[in-house]
Amino acid sequence: MGSTATITAGHRISVLLLLAFFAALISITQAATNGGDLSVLNSLKDVWSNTPPNWVGGDPCGDNWDGIGCNGNRVTSITLSSTGLSGQLSGDIASLSELQILDLSYNKGLRGNLPQSIGNLRKLTNLILVGCRFSGPIPDSIGSLSRINTLSLNSNGFTGTIPPSIGNLASLYWLDLADNQLEGSIPISDGVTPGLDLLVNTKHFHFGKNQLTGSIPTKLFNSSMTLLHVLFDGNKLTGNIPPTLGQVSSLEVLRLDRNSLTGTVPRSFNNLASLTELSLSNNNLNGPFPNLTGTGVITTLDLSNNSFSSSNFPSWLSSMESLTTLMLENTQLQGPVPTGLFSLPNIQTVNLARNDLNGTLDIGPSHSSQLQLVDMQSNFISNYRQRPGANEVAIVLLRNPVCDETPNGPTPSYCIPPDRSSKYTTPPNNCVPGNCPSNKTASPNCACAFAYTGLLVFRAPSFSDLGNATIFTALQKSLMDSFRSNQLPVDAVQLSNPRKDSSEYLDIDLKVFPYGQDYFNRSGVSRIAFALSNQTFKPPGMFGPFFFLGDEYTHFDEGGSGSKKSASTGLIIGAAVGGTVLVLLVILAAVYAYGQKKKARKAAEQSHPFAHWDATENTGGFPQLKGARCFSFDELKKYTNSFSDANAIGSGGYGKVYRGVLPTGQLLAIKRAQRESMQGGLEFKTEIELLSRVHHKNVVSLVGFCFEQGEQMLIYEYVPNGTLSDALSGKSGISMEWTRRLKVAIGAARGLAYLHELADPPIIHRDIKSANILLDDRLIAKVADFGLSKPMSDSEKDHITTQVKGTMGYLDPEYYMTQQLTEKSDVYSFGVVLLEIVTGRRPIERGKYIVREIKMAMDKTKSLYNLQTVIDPAICNESLKGLDKFVDLALSCVHESGAERPSMGDVVKEIEFILQQAGLNPNADSVNTSGFYEEAEKGSPQHPYSKESFEYSGAFPPSKVEPQ
Ligand SMILES: *[C@@H]1O[C@H](CO)[C@@H](O)[C@H](O)[C@H]1NC(C)=O
Ligand SMILES: *[C@@H]1O[C@H](CO)[C@@H](O)[C@H](O)[C@H]1NC(C)=O
Ligand SMILES: *[C@@H]1O[C@H](CO)[C@@H](O)[C@H](O)[C@H]1NC(C)=O
Ligand SMILES: *[C@@H]1O[C@H](CO)[C@@H](O)[C@H](O)[C@H]1NC(C)=O
Repeated sequence: MGSTATITAGHRISVLLLLAFFAALISITQAATNGGDLSVLNSLKDVWSNTPPNWVGGDPCGDNWDGIGCNGNRVTSITLSSTGLSGQLSGDIASLSELQILDLSYNKGLRGNLPQSIGNLRKLTNLILVGCRFSGPIPDSIGSLSRINTLSLNSNGFTGTIPPSIGNLASLYWLDLADNQLEGSIPISDGVTPGLDLLVNTKHFHFGKNQLTGSIPTKLFNSSMTLLHVLFDGNKLTGNIPPTLGQVSSLEVLRLDRNSLTGTVPRSFNNLASLTELSLSNNNLNGPFPNLTGTGVITTLDLSNNSFSSSNFPSWLSSMESLTTLMLENTQLQGPVPTGLFSLPNIQTVNLARNDLNGTLDIGPSHSSQLQLVDMQSNFISNYRQRPGANEVAIVLLRNPVCDETPNGPTPSYCIPPDRSSKYTTPPNNCVPGNCPSNKTASPNCACAFAYTGLLVFRAPSFSDLGNATIFTALQKSLMDSFRSNQLPVDAVQLSNPRKDSSEYLDIDLKVFPYGQDYFNRSGVSRIAFALSNQTFKPPGMFGPFFFLGDEYTHFDEGGSGSKKSASTGLIIGAAVGGTVLVLLVILAAVYAYGQKKKARKAAEQSHPFAHWDATENTGGFPQLKGARCFSFDELKKYTNSFSDANAIGSGGYGKVYRGVLPTGQLLAIKRAQRESMQGGLEFKTEIELLSRVHHKNVVSLVGFCFEQGEQMLIYEYVPNGTLSDALSGKSGISMEWTRRLKVAIGAARGLAYLHELADPPIIHRDIKSANILLDDRLIAKVADFGLSKPMSDSEKDHITTQVKGTMGYLDPEYYMTQQLTEKSDVYSFGVVLLEIVTGRRPIERGKYIVREIKMAMDKTKSLYNLQTVIDPAICNESLKGLDKFVDLALSCVHESGAERPSMGDVVKEIEFILQQAGLNPNADSVNTSGFYEEAEKGSPQHPYSKESFEYSGAFPPSKVEPQ
């Protein structure tokens, strides 16, 4: 008896092991994320600390691991900047064979060598490791990354020489190796080994702040190159400046300062007609003072601290019309300073300190209004001619006869060292900042939040007046515009303390404030950091090349801490050791195996949801679809002229939209997902099922889909008159008078009310905006684009907790804060659309948020609520009947609290009321483009659900055609 039991138990254990083995196998081969990629990420998780807490489970792609981007089931990007990662970059990463983007910038805990195997990442386009602590040589294998366009290894501790193999990177656009400990000479090709002279497509050579030695090879530059920025400053380069630099006619910024270069400035520099910044300071250049007459657009010229032979002040300088900044400290100039220099229209700063200039300093009666500083310390100026209106200009004549020999009386201001520091900080945006707790900062919008901070460094700005707020406002605006257009969760940015550092770089402190809540999550910070590390953000031209050094962000709202290990393995092993809990073990294994089987089935379905449907045998018989048909790829190809460019009618992050024509003449809009934005098969199926159940004349209806040959396409009815957004902006040429706007509003409101209240299951749109409201041939509004829609099942009637998605400007702040999605979030977005209809403005325009603008401008005691200045100029001459009620309604929709907002049904009733008051029939749906109202149902296609929409149209009798 005893022995039987033992045998049985042993047998069970081996069955169990077998089961576990197969379960593991299944989980590797069938998990939604590619098994190889999963194991690489798990191995990175093992060697790194501080990985995101949501890096748990077996499906990084499906579970949206922070910082991981996928295409299908393959990992294509890792972006984890400023998140406090530490550890080494393990060579395992080379197995992520589909990886395109790797950005681990601003993690000071990342150290050690770059693995040689990194060269195996053949699909890599962006390798960005700015501001970490990597060290050792840059591996030669980097030259195998044949698709790379951005290689940013700056601000680390790399040693050794620049690998010649970089010369093989034909697609390289941005090469930044600055601020490391690189040594040796700059490699050039010799027919056997490659070199940087082969990089004819590269725009940026940023090698500053290293220990590079030797002379700059003459062969490094040639006329096939397309370089914009050559930054070799702060190295130990010797020898002459190669005249071949003059062949790179595209060159805009050249910094060779802070080296040990000798010889003369090549005459060929006069061919550099696009050059805006030239710094050759702090070298041992000699020979005559250079003549740069041909470089007509230079804004910043710095030749300070060289050993030119003595010369009078060069006359050509007084005709450099673009010049803002002239730095000629210690350049052996003698004689008088020409007065004309100070009349150059853009001149801001003139530094002529430590020369032998003599005579009288006179900035003339008509000096430039931009002039800020004339520094002539340590010269032989014997007289200063005061000019009226020159009080704004700081003149520095310390250690000149004119100051040394000052008679009795007060010391003139030009003999006192000036205070030139700029205290600029982005000012509050029409609000009064309160006191924030010590660990939070007040944003320009006066909200206290945990800001993401860092240092913006501009390596060659074309201006030197750091007291001009206009310039920093422009930078702040362009940052906000870039963040917004990249959909980053940013409420405001603050710039402060602009200053020149010892390398003549312009440093500015940056604070980025979170949108809708008081902290950023990991993906928010990483995406913002990426916009800066990847140079996605382009500053206004006057700022020139920049880099960003982000601080580590420590205020993530962490659900748990560190990387948690999945519990199941440990549990099973523990149970086996215990022996006595065999039964538990069997149950566990069975549950596990069942789970794996289910998972495998799920994975299989995800990869091809219609695999088990026989379309040929059972036409139209797809179980869950109502009225949508399955198109073949070849069919659609025919209808769209092979997806020709001429047929493309729109595009977006998801891919392109094509116009197609059925043999019957019916027009189609075919939305074709691009690879990057394809959904999992199951998601795609869910979306089709959802869309196929929606039938209402104010909702764009799905005609069919295509899921074949690796394509995902949705085929909609064609809506010819474009988006409401385009109509309001005037882009589509439709005249949008007030009454027409009211008609569009009622249509869109009805469509949305249908989705909320009559669709089964009810649908929350999640991305209501004027660009998702289309106008048909009779200008009837139709709600479109269900890419982000969520059906509500009974169990979640009140709200759905979900990752926040939607479009900045339309996003419900309450949903953003709580992540709880209700219909009222759509109501908020719809309220914003109503305000757009009134103002003709986009919700966020030039940094101003429409909701705040309207609330600020509004005064209910005045006519038109005092909104004359914000009402769309296109309608401001009309009698705007019902405008006040319309604005009241819009503002009730954008109430801070969802509970206070009306339902869409209420919104429909109120707009119907406004239409009646304006003397219009709410049921005459809209006007056609020739200007007549038409009956709502006339000509609309009959389908099984038209009754539903008809009934919903309200209690008003159908109207007659009436003139406009
Ligand atoms: C500078 O060069 C230009 C032509 O390149 C010439 O016309 C001019 O005379 C030169 N000026 C001086 C001071 O040598
Ligand atoms: C200025 O210096 C030059 C040469 O150093 C000299 O020839 C000239 O006389 C000086 N002029 C005055 C006004 O001191
Ligand atoms: C500030 O800079 C702007 C843009 O460069 C310029 O137009 C303006 O004149 C400057 N203001 C002053 C006071 O120099
Ligand atoms: C910030 O400060 C408040 C009190 O001033 C404190 O309650 C909170 O824990 C602090 N948060 C962090 C992340 O340091």
